[in-house]
Amino acid sequence: MSMKFTLKAALACTFLAVTATAGGHTAVEQRITAMKAVGGQMRTLGGMAQGQVAYDATAAIAALQIMRNSAAAALPLFADPTAAGAETRARAEIWADGSDFNDRLSAMIADMDVAIAAAPADAAAFGPLFGAVAGNCRSCHEKYRAPEN
Ligand code: HEC
Repeated sequence: MSMKFTLKAALACTFLAVTATAGGHTAVEQRITAMKAVGGQMRTLGGMAQGQVAYDATAAIAALQIMRNSAAAALPLFADPTAAGAETRARAEIWADGSDFNDRLSAMIADMDVAIAAAPADAAAFGPLFGAVAGNCRSCHEKYRAPEN
């Protein structure tokens, strides 16, 4: 089985998994679930990046694929301004700032695609690719996610 085929099959599987677990009824609930799935993989990947957990290429690429598919699932769920009264940390600036939010989320997905395509074989190759992905989180949250109440 070629690497390409394996990656494609894995992508198809994780896409199904994300679709099946994207719980909640409203777009807001679904995007929070999707973003939590992004955050969940950070623990696996961050541990490997910091050397707390031994680097495992198969596990890292699988985690990146779940992250990527979860972020892609969240993207369209930010299309409409949040209805009044919904429990959300999304700031109104998301919809006031034109395409900036979409561009940032798309840029993160692109960084994830780069990391997946590179299929890093060891921690040295993984580090900078993961750094590029993780570099997207904080700046967007600072601008577009309200603090926890
Ligand atoms: C383009 C902007 C953007 C990027 C990039 C982004 N996030 Fe978020 N994230 C948000 C917004 C906005 C919310 C709040 C959604 C809501 O409450 O409706 C959110 C919510 C979350 C949540 C849900 C729980 C909570 O505390 O609100 C987690 C977990 C999370 N993000 C993790 C991450 C991680 C990890 C990354 C980077 C790998 C990341 N996010 C990248 C904008 C972003």
